[in-house]
Amino acid sequence: MNNDYSLHIISDCPKQTQNIGIKLGRLSQEGDVLLLTGNLGAGKTCLTQGIARGLDIQEYTSSPSFMVVKEYYGRLHLYHIDLYRLEQTAEILDLGLDDYLYGEGICVVEWADREPAVLPEENLLIKMSYISDSKRYLEFEARGERYSELLSELHSQLSHQNGDRGINAVSY
Ligand SMILES: Nc1ncnc2c1ncn2[C@@H]1O[C@H](COP(=O)(O)OP(=O)(O)OP(=O)(O)O)[C@@H](O)[C@H]1O
Ligand SMILES: [Mg+2]
Repeated sequence: MNNDYSLHIISDCPKQTQNIGIKLGRLSQEGDVLLLTGNLGAGKTCLTQGIARGLDIQEYTSSPSFMVVKEYYGRLHLYHIDLYRLEQTAEILDLGLDDYLYGEGICVVEWADREPAVLPEENLLIKMSYISDSKRYLEFEARGERYSELLSELHSQLSHQNGDRGINAVSY
């Protein structure tokens, strides 16, 4: 599968990560699947919080929970799926995630690299990594036409907003 479009961004603080999330949330459409990878504390939930705000979700909570799927209602449904605690493919398959992943809401999947085989081939992959206490590296890879379009729109909004001071965005 081609990586049709990719974008690399350095976020300087949690607020900037959330702002990227807000833009993503605003640009999201029915059925979009956003996959997040990165270690503990990489900022996956922080980004998701922004996505929720971008979808006009009021009651988003990032408090710890043992639920694998959390559902929120805003402009569209948001399904926040966290695969961290799941060890086995069988456990994941038992959850019947397909109803979410191929449904009409937006799915954000944390720890998507735990079980890539159960996830749709077309998606926006966001790999997050730690640079320093307040900086994070975000690599976006679009798989499929819809996500290339989404990513190119995100890129143009971020460039527009930041002008020369730029979010450090590079596309390939
Ligand atoms: N630039 C940044 N972007 C995002 N978070 C940042 C940034 N700088 C510092 N942080 C801090 O890093 C932490 C990120 O936590 P978060 O819960 O989002 O990580 P996570 O990737 O979801 O981890 P987990 O795998 O445990 O769910 C927060 O405490 C946040 O304040
Ligand atoms: Mg998290």
